Amino acid sequence: MAIEGGLPLRGEAEIHGAKNAVLPVLSAALLCPRSVIRNCPMLSDVRAACRILERLGCSVTSGEESLSVDASCARGCGVPASLAGEMRSSIIFLGALLARFGKAQIALPGGCRLGPRPIDLHISGLRRMGARIIEQEDGLICSADKGLKGADISLAYPSVGATENLLIAASLAKGETILRGAAQEPEIDGLIDFLNLAGARLCREGSMIRAEGVRELHDVDYTIIPDRIEAATYLSAAAATGGEITLKRVCTSHLASILPVFREMGCRVEDSGEKVSLSAPRRLLPVSFVSTSPYPGFPTDALAPIMAASLLANGESRFEEGVFESRYLHVEQFRDMGADVRLDGKRAYVKGKPCLYASRLHCTDLRGGAALAVAALAAQGVSLLDELQHIHRGYEDMPAMLRRLGGRVWTLSSSLVRKDISPERGERAAITGFGLAPVPRIQGVL
Ligand code: EPZ
Repeated sequence: MAIEGGLPLRGEAEIHGAKNAVLPVLSAALLCPRSVIRNCPMLSDVRAACRILERLGCSVTSGEESLSVDASCARGCGVPASLAGEMRSSIIFLGALLARFGKAQIALPGGCRLGPRPIDLHISGLRRMGARIIEQEDGLICSADKGLKGADISLAYPSVGATENLLIAASLAKGETILRGAAQEPEIDGLIDFLNLAGARLCREGSMIRAEGVRELHDVDYTIIPDRIEAATYLSAAAATGGEITLKRVCTSHLASILPVFREMGCRVEDSGEKVSLSAPRRLLPVSFVSTSPYPGFPTDALAPIMAASLLANGESRFEEGVFESRYLHVEQFRDMGADVRLDGKRAYVKGKPCLYASRLHCTDLRGGAALAVAALAAQGVSLLDELQHIHRGYEDMPAMLRRLGGRVWTLSSSLVRKDISPERGERAAITGFGLAPVPRIQGVL
């Protein structure tokens, strides 16, 4: 993808359904005869989840922004590495397989390189519910011969995935499950709504969730909640470019910890119901301090994009990653663009610069890749961004979205991109027709 920076984003766009809401719902669909899932984003992770469902014997058909899953003929209980390794959320099929079939053989999940991604909380909770789980080098062999039973489970950390796995399992377990210290992300409440619409009996009391197991679930028709992280990403892009945009089909209450940060940076932000508008100053103010934490804290997934917006701010911004071990894989490439970012363990200090320079960029992970796109929109010149498979996992057609917001963005096939363009040689790529030719250093700027 080629991105010409230095132009303020202006315009309106509609936010898609949330990746992190649709993935657990697709796992839970294994428990329902038939599910219609609306406002479904077309993402590579969603397609990977559909491949797992089909491998388990479900039929999946796609409609206009929707998926229909028929799990009535599902038989399989195995998820091989070729499918499980494509994304983190494959592990959420474990609870569904144990609840539906009383057994599962599942390879370890994949996902972004954010440091260790253990699944000990998933395993210990399912064992509390009576599952026998043998941990092997590359996967898990699980069984619950007498079916799962309700249990009183305290999570040592409000893990999103473990909460989702245990809720799905508890829906059909015998008796009551109490989940203490559960995650409170909106995507969890979306999963609870889906399961209750299908006949489950789940209710949240703050960080505690009660589940009264039922014998079976029925057909369900459900609409996925908006993607708060996608919204935060495009708001970051508008802020970074001194732009003015409006995003529709958002849930502004899910952005409660995010919008104040844009206001602190000097943006005018108006939010009402399903719409949020942001108008940015020519130059942003710095962020005094943002530390990521489980919901309702500032979301870890929005850290990289908003850090990208701070690269040109008038002062020093401070960030701290409080959820994952390493969320800064993309920072080196910020530096290639001329940014001044100092890392100290989980903290990042960004000294805003007057200018960033276009560069040859490689996505390292989903949100880091999105952050590089945000930085490229604010840089002088045309940046080239590759390894886009990371971005396709969580953003539906980002180039089209950015163009809709006035961005000058081209999707290039890799054969068109000359490999000899490099920032080290001070070359700046420019789009000439469909090819790319290096242009000499921009005099007086470097
Ligand atoms: C979900 O990942 C999201 N992914 C992540 O979004 C998100 O960043 C994360 O929740 C936190 O909000 C999906 O929903 C598909 P966790 P998940 O279990 O479930 C530790 C994105 O960019 N932990 O809440 O893997 C873990 O090591 C992705 O869209 C254990 O120790 O997150 C981490 O430090 C990235 N043991 C912390 O909890 C466990 O058994 C948070 O993990 C599980 C987790």
